[in-house]
Amino acid sequence: MKAWQVIRHGAPADVLELAEVPRPTPGPGELLVRVRAAAANFPDVLMCEGTYQVRPPLPFTPGVELCGEVVDKHPDVTGTQIGDRVIGAAALPSGGFAEYALMVAGRSYPAPPELDDAEAAPFLVTYQTGWFGLHRKARLQPGETLLVHAAAGGVGSGAVQLGKAAGARVIGVVGGPDKAALAKELGADIVIDRHQQDFVAVVKEVTDGKGADVVYDPVGGNSFYKSTKCIAFEGRIIVVGFASGDIPQAALNHALVKNYDILGLHWSLYEQRAPELVRACQLELEKLVSARRIRTLITQRLSLTEVPSALARLAAGNTTGRMVFIP
Ligand SMILES: NC(=O)c1ccc[n+]([C@@H]2O[C@H](COP(=O)([O-])OP(=O)(O)OC[C@H]3O[C@@H](n4cnc5c(N)ncnc54)[C@H](OP(=O)(O)O)[C@@H]3O)[C@@H](O)[C@H]2O)c1
Repeated sequence: MKAWQVIRHGAPADVLELAEVPRPTPGPGELLVRVRAAAANFPDVLMCEGTYQVRPPLPFTPGVELCGEVVDKHPDVTGTQIGDRVIGAAALPSGGFAEYALMVAGRSYPAPPELDDAEAAPFLVTYQTGWFGLHRKARLQPGETLLVHAAAGGVGSGAVQLGKAAGARVIGVVGGPDKAALAKELGADIVIDRHQQDFVAVVKEVTDGKGADVVYDPVGGNSFYKSTKCIAFEGRIIVVGFASGDIPQAALNHALVKNYDILGLHWSLYEQRAPELVRACQLELEKLVSARRIRTLITQRLSLTEVPSALARLAAGNTTGRMVFIP
């Protein structure tokens, strides 16, 4: 089968090779799936660079999230059947940027029938991360103001939709007019182009000086620092990621004086430590997708050969919504 392999650590375009490799064999608890679509995620870039918290041994096939059709399974797997259409995380080193991939049966879910293969592939991480961040961590309430950074991006676009579905007033921060249009289309009530406007001033203005109750921050760096300037009394800042490449240092005296919370979020730890919470969350998300309250924003349906160039665009912050690869 064809599979992309990371042969050493570095920029995706420099270290990925398309190779002919044997189909992997499912180990205990694993499924072999034919990849129907695989999503591009920021951690794929970081894994190529060797800077992600998970460092699979070299060489490995990246592609952390996918929609696949089960073609084989370990004899100990019950429940999932051959032919099922499933979504979930790939079992690295046999990731989704390939014709076949491995998945952990206990961490795979039926693909929602309302979504086609491309829409289903990125469904899990985007919305699970948003749900855990907004509901379990920040306990977002109807009527509260939610500020979402990179609101037209991968996890940001999901947070905008989930915030609206929860009855919040959503302010999206984006870089550029195309992203602004997309954030509006996703349902953001107010959109701020960070290249044109100072989001701190706008947030203060539209909240009558009160500030945002919840901030969803996948960017870090200045986005975090400036968020602390427009966070409300008893506000909550969810630390989701560092797409800017800058890991900010929180001033705890400032958090104390202004009385706000800084909440770390590592969604995949819930998969490992509290899978029952992940399953319960997935049921809620399936209800929302059936009710057409949320829908994955697929902006690019690409072929498998386009993996390195697409990951380079993701790393540079030049993408909107979700990109998927269809082998
Ligand atoms: N905590 C968790 O469990 C969890 C789960 C999933 C993902 N994540 C993290 O969330 C982050 C976002 O991932 P994603 O796949 O959804 O990416 P993404 O939002 O599609 O892309 C990153 C976005 O960040 C913004 N950005 C601002 N400054 C940037 C800079 N200097 N360089 C690059 N981008 C910049 C850009 O949007 P604008 O131009 O519109 O500002 C860019 O489009 C990653 O750090 C990822 O690891 C965390």
